[in-house]
Amino acid sequence: MKSKYLALALAGLMLAGGCRATDNTGTVTPTAEEPVATVAAEPTEEAGPTEEAEPTQEAETAPTEAEEEHETGIKDVFAEHNMKAGTCLTAWDLRNPLVMDIVSANFNSITCGNEMKPDYTLNQKKSQEEGHVVVEYGQDTINILEWCKENGMAMRGHTLVWYSQTPEWLFHENFDSSQPLVGREELLTRMEDLIRGNFEELERLGYLDMFYAYDVINEGWMEDGKPRQCHWSEIIGDDYFWHAFYFADQYAPETVDLYYNDYNEQFKADTLAEFAATLVDEDGRSLIDGIGLQAHLYTSDDMEQYFDAIDTLAATGLKLQVTELDVCLGKWQYPDEKNEDTLKEQGRFYYDLINGIFERVDDGRVEMDAFTFWGTADSTSWRREYNPMLFDGAFKPKYAYYGAIQDRENAGFDE
Ligand code: GLA
Repeated sequence: MKSKYLALALAGLMLAGGCRATDNTGTVTPTAEEPVATVAAEPTEEAGPTEEAEPTQEAETAPTEAEEEHETGIKDVFAEHNMKAGTCLTAWDLRNPLVMDIVSANFNSITCGNEMKPDYTLNQKKSQEEGHVVVEYGQDTINILEWCKENGMAMRGHTLVWYSQTPEWLFHENFDSSQPLVGREELLTRMEDLIRGNFEELERLGYLDMFYAYDVINEGWMEDGKPRQCHWSEIIGDDYFWHAFYFADQYAPETVDLYYNDYNEQFKADTLAEFAATLVDEDGRSLIDGIGLQAHLYTSDDMEQYFDAIDTLAATGLKLQVTELDVCLGKWQYPDEKNEDTLKEQGRFYYDLINGIFERVDDGRVEMDAFTFWGTADSTSWRREYNPMLFDGAFKPKYAYYGAIQDRENAGFDE
């Protein structure tokens, strides 16, 4: 790793001030209803596709002994447990060699950070012209998919049906948000077109084979056990969940596992387990393959509670995947100051969390074939004020990184 980090440093100096992020400038807002004393972040209020934020660049320091020791990446550690290791990637990341070196060295699975969300994949003008939903990927999406193909990455699709980052016009007559909302039958048709259209577009562009999992619905349930109120639920009714999975099951190839993905999963495990059991077809066959645990966590979170949620969800017999892990310093709305103690605490958190998951995967309690981190460096994270990632603002590995690769000696344990 030594030479890699020297190269990163040089590239960093050349780039300083020149790069702008197009993603991950989300603000953390309270969940609508707060069921528990520890309130986790609502991870969905984020910058639209065009908003930008300036990543910070920390000063470069020489590689440490620990960095020099590690020639393998995160993916090699996860491969020992038959799991892929993933990260999200945005169009901005693609232009940043510091990020891309980390991605190439450490990950073998990619989720588009934004570029496969409905905001990016639906074409309003063509939908209006043709009178039905038209899915057409733009250049940012294609650039990411092309890089992933050239670099042998496996892909998680994210996401089809979501209340956020979905154009308002999708729900209105003539695909025009100044017109009235459409009715149930029309929205079901549009949902079907959206789902079928994404799989057809991937096939047409030659990328479908790279996909092993797809988030069919993102963030549909609240912590109080009720479905989230959104256009999908209000116009179609609560059976929109079932219809989305029914369509996805119809149009996705067998090789793509279909996921329901959510945050605050440790507060929703019973709800999600009950819900997943309802997703069966007329013959009783399950329409869902797995539950995605976003895992937007805090160092103050109760890890036992998190493991209990994993065990509850695993008992459904479905696969589980960690889909968006980041671990903030501190607690929701109260970031801890970044210092040696808090960074070590974070390193131990990453170590313990991943260790507990490896134990469950190895002894067969949990079926998990992939584990995705939501980004690489603190400076490019959507929750950057909490320093949640494995690499710091100079793109150097933190205690958190050593925690993730299960290097206990360098993960912030003092004994
Ligand atoms: C949620 C979404 C992700 C992303 C994050 C914030 O968790 O599922 O796609 O938008 O919020 O970056």
